Amino acid sequence: MDKVLVTGAGGFIGSHVVDALVESGKRVTALDRPGVPIHRRDLRPIAATIDDVDDLARACAGQDAVFHLAAVSDVNRAYADPVACVRANVLGTANVLEAARRAGVARVILASTVWVYNAAPDDASEPLSECTPLNVDRASHVYTSSKLAGEMLLADWHRFYGLPYTVLRYGIPYGPRMRDELVIAKFIRRALAGEPLSVSQASRHFLYVGDLARAHVSALRDVAAGQTYNLEGSELVTIREVAEAVRDLVGRDVAIEEMPPRPGDYRDRVVTSAKAKHDLGWEAEVPFAEGLRRTFNWFLATALHRERSRPNAAIEVALPCADQDRTRIPSNPAPLLPGCVRFGTSREVEGGRGRPETDPGDGQAAARSVSTAAQRSRNRRRRSASATRSPLVATARKYWRCSSKAVQNRAAAAKLPNPRIG
Ligand SMILES: NC(=O)c1ccc[n+]([C@@H]2O[C@H](COP(=O)([O-])OP(=O)(O)OC[C@H]3O[C@@H](n4cnc5c(N)ncnc54)[C@H](O)[C@@H]3O)[C@@H](O)[C@H]2O)c1
Repeated sequence: MDKVLVTGAGGFIGSHVVDALVESGKRVTALDRPGVPIHRRDLRPIAATIDDVDDLARACAGQDAVFHLAAVSDVNRAYADPVACVRANVLGTANVLEAARRAGVARVILASTVWVYNAAPDDASEPLSECTPLNVDRASHVYTSSKLAGEMLLADWHRFYGLPYTVLRYGIPYGPRMRDELVIAKFIRRALAGEPLSVSQASRHFLYVGDLARAHVSALRDVAAGQTYNLEGSELVTIREVAEAVRDLVGRDVAIEEMPPRPGDYRDRVVTSAKAKHDLGWEAEVPFAEGLRRTFNWFLATALHRERSRPNAAIEVALPCADQDRTRIPSNPAPLLPGCVRFGTSREVEGGRGRPETDPGDGQAAARSVSTAAQRSRNRRRRSASATRSPLVATARKYWRCSSKAVQNRAAAAKLPNPRIG
């Protein structure tokens, strides 16, 4: 299966799924709503909604598989507007299935969630597996019900129309490009601003998004046809532990406060991914501490960028970045210092090309600003004036001082200021 369509490709998980599929050699078509940027320029974007079967059928034509991720994914939004949630997650899924059927697609792979295990009986023996029976009257949240309904529709389209499918029940993902409302992003933002972090008694098996994306490549194997797989994180972390870890990374003494649970919140159950390991050779690999560090690097760099997004300002931040986080935008002209993050100008960013890029690792190149010398000198003057006021810059400097010696040495050899923010 070489040609694949990804719906929701501009979203948090979709963007990583696209990266994993491209890196594995697939020819990817990326579909998202008009106005939602796709982070890569080396693939075919389609601006369309999942509300129209005809549009979708055109997008599905010639595709071998469809990864269907487009959805109302924010549980609070689903709670506030249940009809919109059902329209996108249930009707939208039916539209995708019907379009795939008409186009003769060989497989539809659905993004579902471990939240469906809210519907498992209280006394179901743990770990819960894909065979654990689920009671439709226990889903406890319209988001969960909509995802269960999506799974049921896949089974129906297979039974009645012979459309092959795979269901992936995602654990709770986190990582670079995560949405602002997700708990880890919220904690990092609040901690950087010195605001208190509200924690519940809940705990989660958080899953690094790179691990999750990797599973999508294996899910194209023949063995996965007609199957459901749990893709769960391996470490149980309490929300309080997340808050403490973020506070340590940010290095500010922010308060941590208890709050009551959300209505219908996911009650973390022990869910096994043994089937995914057996059939697909997949398991979560990135430890939570490492994944959180990578997320923080990305968040900090992105936040610094936002803060500095003046028209055509040069934006370049040297922060250590894990090798595994490397994404390459082929059109980007400037090679990077190994282990550093670079942004384009804010104008490029507004054009949808400004996601952080990390070095491809050839070890040859020094980081370069894309600005002219005159712009650079103007920026330097503005920088020195504003940098002293910015808590983000202060955090970046502090973080830089704690970064690995090797990265700092390479930066010094390339005469890269620490950190450089234009
Ligand atoms: N993030 C999580 O915690 C989580 C956990 C389990 C499962 N999931 C599922 O994974 C999938 C991706 O989640 P995410 O976190 O990347 O969400 P996201 O909100 O970041 O991305 C969803 C994408 O779908 C697009 N979309 C929404 N409605 C659309 C429509 N009508 N037509 C076309 N595109 C539309 C959005 O523009 C967005 O880019 C969703 O199906 C979600 O339910 C997410």
